[in-house]
Amino acid sequence: MRVCIFGDLHGEPREIPPADGYMLVGDFSEYFDTTSDPLWKFYVRALMAHSPEEKYQMFTSEKMIKAIKLSIDSSIKTLTIFDNLKKPVYYITGNREFYPDFLIEYFCLDIPLFLEKSKDLKNSTCINLKRITLGSKSVFGIPYIPSGFHREDWKLPGFEEIWDHYAKEIDNILQNSPFISIILSHNPPFGVLDAHLDDTHLGINFFNDYILEKKPELFICGHAHGYYGEKIVNQTRVLNLAFRNFEILEL
Ligand SMILES: [Fe+2]
Repeated sequence: MRVCIFGDLHGEPREIPPADGYMLVGDFSEYFDTTSDPLWKFYVRALMAHSPEEKYQMFTSEKMIKAIKLSIDSSIKTLTIFDNLKKPVYYITGNREFYPDFLIEYFCLDIPLFLEKSKDLKNSTCINLKRITLGSKSVFGIPYIPSGFHREDWKLPGFEEIWDHYAKEIDNILQNSPFISIILSHNPPFGVLDAHLDDTHLGINFFNDYILEKKPELFICGHAHGYYGEKIVNQTRVLNLAFRNFEILEL
């Protein structure tokens, strides 16, 4: 089985090679210009706002709701391009899907979640924390886990606790899973192809422990856009497909 795996797409792919199936590591929504577009400048200002009250007001404003909807629609648009190929598509969610859904749930906003809307697609399956078999290999999907500077930016009451709990749950599920050949994760392991453009680490510590103990064959990730490449860690091939790169595997 020929499977094509894409890193963060952030909009329409330049090309899609023919394959029997596709795997996507999340971050489907296009890049919005946070320096010149007034809506996205507002989004960044909300992230940087100092007081929780000010943040709360900005995050629940009409402008923010518009930004969240645009971001979700853009993610769905990219995913639909793959869905229309009429081949099985397996995907996990990146931070571009995580944050809109998280805000919708946290603030109880009246907006359909990305994960709800993506269920309407016919050929695409979200494998967040799910195990599938492709060809002769078991594959396990791990969605985005808040990390690095992304995590420090979002200072809203309760976020840290909720996210710590979320990360711990994922760690537990992973530890208790039977052997997995291929991990498909948005974040890289910590210190492995995981620095962002300003050298802040975006990786996750417990992935390193998992790799050392359980020795999966392949750990595929994205998220750190400037760090496309591969590294062998213990006996595991870690492959960061980063920004719009793809890899074809025979499984
Ligand atoms: Fe990304």
